[in-house]
Amino acid sequence: MTELTSQKQAALAAIADAATLDALEEQRVAALGKKGWVSLALKTLGGMSPEERQEAAPAIQAVRAEIADAIEAKKAALEAAALEAQLASETIDLTLPAPAAPKGSVHPVSQVMDELAEIFADLGFTVATGPEIEDDWHNFTALNMDESHPARAMHDTFYFPDAAPDGGQMLLRTHTSPVQIRSMQAIAKANPGGAPMRLIAPGRVYRSDSDATHTPMFHQVEGLVIDRDIHLGHLKWTLETFLKAFFERDDIVLRLRPSYFPFTEPSVEADVGYSNENGRRVVGGNGDDPGYEWMELLGSGMVNRRVLEMGGFDPDQWQGFAWGLGVDRLAMLKYGMNDLRAFFDGDPRWLSHYGFAAVDQPTLSAGVGAGA
Ligand code: DAH
Repeated sequence: MTELTSQKQAALAAIADAATLDALEEQRVAALGKKGWVSLALKTLGGMSPEERQEAAPAIQAVRAEIADAIEAKKAALEAAALEAQLASETIDLTLPAPAAPKGSVHPVSQVMDELAEIFADLGFTVATGPEIEDDWHNFTALNMDESHPARAMHDTFYFPDAAPDGGQMLLRTHTSPVQIRSMQAIAKANPGGAPMRLIAPGRVYRSDSDATHTPMFHQVEGLVIDRDIHLGHLKWTLETFLKAFFERDDIVLRLRPSYFPFTEPSVEADVGYSNENGRRVVGGNGDDPGYEWMELLGSGMVNRRVLEMGGFDPDQWQGFAWGLGVDRLAMLKYGMNDLRAFFDGDPRWLSHYGFAAVDQPTLSAGVGAGA
C-alpha cells in the first residue's frame, strides 16, 4: 500500500505541474489508461484472497477517484486559462465601422405604380385590383367581346386547360380591363343601377408574346370614371393633368385620334408630344423643339353602353370614360431605360442602378396642380 501511496503522491504532483492539456492527458494515460498504474493495481485484486481484497479494493478505488478528480480539476483550470489568454489577445475594436448590410431597392415598376396611385389619389381616384387568373367572361365577354369577336384572337391569350366550375374558360388576364367589370359589379350590388366611381387598376397582365419590346408578362394601369354627363373633355383633361404631374412638366399635350376598342364607343388612341434631348425621347415640349413628334401612349374612350350594362349600370343614367396604359413603357419614358426585357431579368446591377431606395423614398416633388 505504501507503493500505491507514493505513486499517488508522484502522480498528483505531476498533474499539478502539467502546463498544457497534452501534458495532462499524458498523466491521465499513465495512471488511468489500460496499462496505467491504477489499472494494474486494480488487476492485482483478482489474485488476492477475499479478506485481502476486502481491504485493498476500497483503497485502490479511493486512489483512482482522487486521481480522476485531480485531472478533472486541472483540466478545467487549464481550459479557463486558455480562454483567458485568448480573450486577452483577441480584442475587438468596437470603433471600427461595421460593413454595410446589403440593401434591396424598389423596382422602377413598383415606383411608378406608387407614383400613379399618389397622383390619382389627388384627383379622387381609388386603387382597385382584380385576379390575374381570370375567366373569359370578365376578360372578354363582359367587355363586349363575345366568343366570335375577332379582337379575342388578337390577344395571344394564355388559356388554362381546365374549365372553371361554371364551365367558363380560365385564362391569364390579357389586360387590366376586367377590373372595370368587377369594380362596376361590386358598386352596382350596393347601388342597383349604378353610382359614380373613379378608379385606377394597376397590375400584371399576360400575353404569349416575346421580343425586344414585348414580354409575356407586363404591367398596365386601367382607369375608369363613371358619373353623370361625363364626356371626352373630362378624359382629355384627366390624362393631361396626370401626365403633367407624372413627368413633372407643364408643356405636355395629348392628341386624341379615332380608334376602335370593343369596350369603348367612341374609342380614341391618345398620343403625347415628345422632343429629342441628346438622342433621348423626352415627353413634353412643343413644335419649336428639335425632333418634336407624337408618340402613341394609350387606348381610351367612352365606356360602351353594353359594358355599362354588363357591369350592372344603367347606361341611360351613367356615362364614363376608361383608359388602359402600359406601366413599363411609362417607367422607361420617365427613367430612361431602353430595353424592356431587363425589367424582368432580376439582374442586381440593373436593379441597383435603376431601383429606388426603399426607405426615405423620394416621392414626386409636387402634387397635381402644384406646378400648373
Ligand atoms: N385593354 C386594352 C388593351 O390592353 C387597352 C384599353 C384601351 C383599355 C381602351 C381601355 C380602353 O380601358 O378604354 O389593349
